[in-house]
Amino acid sequence: MIGIGKQHLLDPALSSGGFQPLARRLRRLSLRERRAEAAAFLDLFYEENVDDSADRQRRKAEVDRDLKQHGMYTHTPQELAFGAKVAWRNHARCIGRLYWRSLVVRDCRNISDPDGIADEVIQHMHAAFNRGKIKSVITIFAPVTPQALPAHIGANQVTRYAGYLQRDGSVVGDRANVEATRQAQAAGWKGDGGQFDILPMPVISADGRRVFKTLPDSTTYRVPLIHADYPAFASLGLEWYAVPCITDMILTIGGIDYPCAPFNGFYMGTEIASRNLVDPWRFDLLGDAARSFGINPEGRDPLWRDRALTELNAAVLQSYQKAGVTLVDHHTAARDFMKFRADESASGRALHADWSWIVPPQASSVLPPFHIEMQDHGAVPNYYHSWIADGWKMMPFDGNVSRSRLAGHIRDARRWLHRKLRKPGTFRR
Ligand code: ARG
Repeated sequence: MIGIGKQHLLDPALSSGGFQPLARRLRRLSLRERRAEAAAFLDLFYEENVDDSADRQRRKAEVDRDLKQHGMYTHTPQELAFGAKVAWRNHARCIGRLYWRSLVVRDCRNISDPDGIADEVIQHMHAAFNRGKIKSVITIFAPVTPQALPAHIGANQVTRYAGYLQRDGSVVGDRANVEATRQAQAAGWKGDGGQFDILPMPVISADGRRVFKTLPDSTTYRVPLIHADYPAFASLGLEWYAVPCITDMILTIGGIDYPCAPFNGFYMGTEIASRNLVDPWRFDLLGDAARSFGINPEGRDPLWRDRALTELNAAVLQSYQKAGVTLVDHHTAARDFMKFRADESASGRALHADWSWIVPPQASSVLPPFHIEMQDHGAVPNYYHSWIADGWKMMPFDGNVSRSRLAGHIRDARRWLHRKLRKPGTFRR
């Protein structure tokens, strides 16, 4: 039991409401690091927005004092909006960052109860859907404070299809959500047993209790999937939803963490057509789709998957277009990414990117990102899942400038040490 030593059980963040996984997910920064990160963020804010040096010095001193006295400071609405946008700009896994400036930021920091959160999420989904012309929106709820963890959402997206495990081991719906479905059922939710039933959204209250919120049908716009050349495909009765809204990433800005900050963009076709509907641990539908296109999965053609994937991608593009819902194809997205890369370079900033996430899973080698080297410098502000997975990589002072190779090695060594030495907890001085 190495990971759960005594000091962790005494941690106020853990003892307040029983075991809270969120406490273990947070970045572990010393007060010094937090102050350094805040100062670096404010410098960036003033450099890229209003450069009034008197104002900058005053604000930096004020924030530093608040951090020393209370372990906490409050972002101005402008700082918050800028931080959320830069966090997107810095996020290595997103191919769609060309539009980082267009993010609509909803400031809901005063809301921290599950009902309030559910209401705002519903509003968020309407604003984001925007009758099909999808807008990128983030709603930011209360941050972590040295005293408490705020309420947050206990699921990876607002919209998730249930997965019903059958006696024979097969699954109706999304296999990734079998456990989530079981938990919702245990809490009293009753699904219809269909392939595309939407799960209720779990909200974890500040005292660690989980409540499931069933969002009204109007929260989710569903797109029926068709293919103009293959009517048999429509008979499969497939659909996907319009707005992917991520709810399990922690927004970190200038040393302050916002664990409840749902954000959405619009889909790239391959996410649905090459992954969600096809991965064996998701809907696992490639064989059925292939047959509906007249392609035989049992035949001798080793390329049957490639052909079926191409038609499935065509189907998703056509279906969203027909429904009037924004969705980008991977060729356009890859071009946009190259434009973003050029813009960042022109602005003198390093590009943070993760090749295995940026390169789309279709036609990869004919897309320009396939042929470039990428590095993730872990710049903050950013969005992360947890300390252990990606939070440890994020460091103050880092990433907004290009660095020498030696500086890179020193940074990596610091990160390694950081990871070894820090214990779980929210705030440490
Ligand atoms: N890949 C995830 C999904 O298929 C969504 C991730 C975010 N995607 C986006 N286009 N903003 O649901």
